[in-house]
Amino acid sequence: MSAPNNDYDPVEVTPLQIEAVETARDAALAAIAAATTLDELKDVRLAHAGDRSPLALANREIGALPPQARKDAGQRIGQARGAVAKALAARTASLEEEFEEKSLVDECVDVTLPWDLEPVGARHPLTTIQDKVADIFVAMGWEVAEGPEVEAEWLNFDALNLGPDHPARTMQDTFWVSPEKAAMVLRTHTSPVQARTMLDREPPIYIVCPGRVFRTDELDATHSPVFHQVEGLAIDEGISMAHLKGTLDHFARAMFGDAMTTRFRPSYFPFTEPSAEVDLLCYVCHGDPALVAACRTCRGEGWVEWGGCGVVNPRVLVACGIDPERYSGFAFGMGLDRTITSRYDIADLRDLIDGDIRFTLPFGVEV
Ligand code: DAH
Repeated sequence: MSAPNNDYDPVEVTPLQIEAVETARDAALAAIAAATTLDELKDVRLAHAGDRSPLALANREIGALPPQARKDAGQRIGQARGAVAKALAARTASLEEEFEEKSLVDECVDVTLPWDLEPVGARHPLTTIQDKVADIFVAMGWEVAEGPEVEAEWLNFDALNLGPDHPARTMQDTFWVSPEKAAMVLRTHTSPVQARTMLDREPPIYIVCPGRVFRTDELDATHSPVFHQVEGLAIDEGISMAHLKGTLDHFARAMFGDAMTTRFRPSYFPFTEPSAEVDLLCYVCHGDPALVAACRTCRGEGWVEWGGCGVVNPRVLVACGIDPERYSGFAFGMGLDRTITSRYDIADLRDLIDGDIRFTLPFGVEV
């Protein structure tokens, strides 16, 4: 065992020398003052007040000093460590406060900012009109039916009494879907939904079907290869042309206001017998004798074309598995694009297709 180290000279124990302690303390205080974030301060704390910091290491040396030297050295180190701890606590408090203040500014929400400047878009008038038609009929207890846009040739034509040699078949310029032997078309009208529904269900049947249809027309101001129709079909016992007229009159008034009336003109469709074209009273001149001659909307007619209709041809009922002795029905179909363009005096049908919000907005947002 070695003798007590009474001759120990504290000056020779470098970490405990006055200057060394002061240097370590000053370095710690400078680093604390220089830390600008709590993260930086954490590193400073580790380096200058941690277990392996110069002051902590110096503290450990005290035990090795002779007893008479310990008090001085202990005081020196204790004061230095105390000063560092105090500076750390003060800096921590002020950085925490700074952080709080910065967060309040960064995360602040200005509740006075206007919130409704984001454009909300607008529903396309075609969507709105299809919904409106559906609403009018659903309110009468009808159902909305749907069918595919790529349709079987048989349902688009044959089932509707448009046999392969029927002249009316070539009147609808058809997009054929390859391969030819698949006998599929892009539906040229919404009428195949009639056939689908009759094949699917037992009468009574009351359905409307708004939807997209296709014909090989060039796109210009008055034609489009894609357009929209709404089809209606009622099959029940004792249905007559009078029910058709009453239904279309109600439809027209619900769409265009109570002053609206319709007129029928005799026509021909293979799927109805008798058939009629239905016209609406001109929404601009209302057939007023003083205005009608100069009216551009109806071109002096007093009426604008709306669609086709009639009593369902018994041949269609038979093709679709419905007993024509027991049931009869009526059907109608109108173009929705034309309804919009003539109603709102839109000169170019292409405006309806372009998808430009500046065209759509004046019809109302109605999201
Ligand atoms: N499908 C016909 C067309 O596209 C419109 C039509 C006429 C539909 C008479 C009908 C109807 O249901 O009865 O030209």
